[in-house]
Amino acid sequence: MESFYFVTDESLNRCYPHTSSMKHKVLIDLFCGTGGFSHGWIQGGGGIAVSVDNWEDALKNHAHNHPEVPVLNLSLGGDIEETSDTLFAYLATYCAEHDIEPEDLHFHLHGSPPCQAISTASHSRASADGYIMVQWFIDLVARMNPDSWSMENVVPVRKYLDTTSIPYVTVNSNDYGVAQKRKRVFAGEGWVLKPTNVGLTVQDVLPDLVGSTLEPSPYMRSKKRWTKLGVDKPFPTVTSCSPSQIRIVSRRRKAHEEPQSYTIDKPAHTITQVNHIVEEIDEDTEEITKRGFTLQESATLQGWPDLQFAEGIYAKSKRVMVGNMVCPPIAKVMCESL
Ligand SMILES: C[S@@+](CC[C@H](N)C(=O)[O-])C[C@H]1O[C@@H](n2cnc3c(N)ncnc32)[C@H](O)[C@@H]1O
Repeated sequence: MESFYFVTDESLNRCYPHTSSMKHKVLIDLFCGTGGFSHGWIQGGGGIAVSVDNWEDALKNHAHNHPEVPVLNLSLGGDIEETSDTLFAYLATYCAEHDIEPEDLHFHLHGSPPCQAISTASHSRASADGYIMVQWFIDLVARMNPDSWSMENVVPVRKYLDTTSIPYVTVNSNDYGVAQKRKRVFAGEGWVLKPTNVGLTVQDVLPDLVGSTLEPSPYMRSKKRWTKLGVDKPFPTVTSCSPSQIRIVSRRRKAHEEPQSYTIDKPAHTITQVNHIVEEIDEDTEEITKRGFTLQESATLQGWPDLQFAEGIYAKSKRVMVGNMVCPPIAKVMCESL
């Protein structure tokens, strides 16, 4: 059966046919990291032929959470034909093992090519290099000709996308049951992203945050009052039953400037590998206690509250994996839309 969907980005409002159905939705997940996209896909009812990355620890953690999914340590970006042959072999194996006939298969190819270089200065060499992997993935899509495909990346990738041939949407995670206002571009064809649960806040998903900083390590203690707090801009009291006031600092700017911050009655700022700091002020003593988000709290704000961590991975690496993740609820909605 053929149906149609609208790409909702204002820059692109076109119709694309897509075949929907009772077919087996099988994913190949490239640049998979610890598997934010893979996890959401599975939640949406899809299967996975293989998830690929060249970071051993990320693959180890992927396997720890989804032992049923084959993972492959491969440096992507090489010969397109060779890569496509390797990936098709995984797809064939998956179909054989699950008794899926070609006519019952819906093959989806996803990629989250590395994006740091793209997010830096737009005309730098690094930026051009960052785009190389994006173009490589687009070339691979053309070669493999999947039933549907998606590519997730940072918003500045838009300047590299030819909108006449590559449809994309700019997605705010907060529209998909994620308590975070992370914006990412999803390019691709064959799926629909319709907002589900809009406007979750930090305190909706982390209800125990207030009062949780009361026993900080000594070096995290400070007597300094927040600049201008209670003068120009009173800081909102978060709960009527708590004497504490709380804010979360997402990014420290230069020493003399106020850091960027948000309150827990709002969605979190974008979770990255740089941890956010929870600051709580005692109204009576004016003492501020602070701590960073735990990994589990950061994962919760990414939309994967029960993410597990394998033994023997450095905390810093775990934080990078969590900060890199596609918010699983978005992949879930995408999979369900096929
Ligand atoms: C933005 S993260 C992907 C996050 C992932 N989609 C998720 O949802 O958790 C990009 C990933 O690309 C991987 N990567 C970077 N260059 C690579 C390459 N040449 N080959 C394979 N993986 C690569 C990194 O190790 C990293 O895990």
